Amino acid sequence: MKVLMVCLGNICRSPLAQGILEHKVRQAGLDWQVDSAGTGAWHVGQRPDRRSCEVAHKYGIDITTQAARKIDRADLQAFDIVYCMDASNYNDVIALCRNQDEEKKVKLIMNEADPKKNISVPDPYFGGPDGFESVYLMLDRACEAVIANRR
Ligand code: 4NP
Repeated sequence: MKVLMVCLGNICRSPLAQGILEHKVRQAGLDWQVDSAGTGAWHVGQRPDRRSCEVAHKYGIDITTQAARKIDRADLQAFDIVYCMDASNYNDVIALCRNQDEEKKVKLIMNEADPKKNISVPDPYFGGPDGFESVYLMLDRACEAVIANRR
């Protein structure tokens, strides 16, 4: 299984989602590939936001070696599932799809934990550290469900 996590900047939410899912995949002994990307290009090449690195570290996960990149059309072919953090990311990724097969791969990540509720993971970039903690906890629950739902 090849899973791509997508947010706007690829420095706050999707790097956390990648790190958390990679950790759970390793623990579960699964042979999955996990990556992340942003719909925007502002932070390409940068490591994740310090606040994301800190909250991940607090829970025993190292995301400091990741580097931001922008999603492109080839990703829609290469990955089996593309998890978006919020409705705006979802719409931007759907707009990149060339056919229904690709559109079917695109999902809101929180729907794994709370089916059909279309809950967005809020952008924590302009807020304080509490936002990063709550994003972490949401994504931890979502990633747990991602694995449980595919067993
Ligand atoms: P992310 O957060 O989409 O979770 O990585 C953001 C990071 C940077 C910006 C917006 C959101 N920005 O506007 O620079």
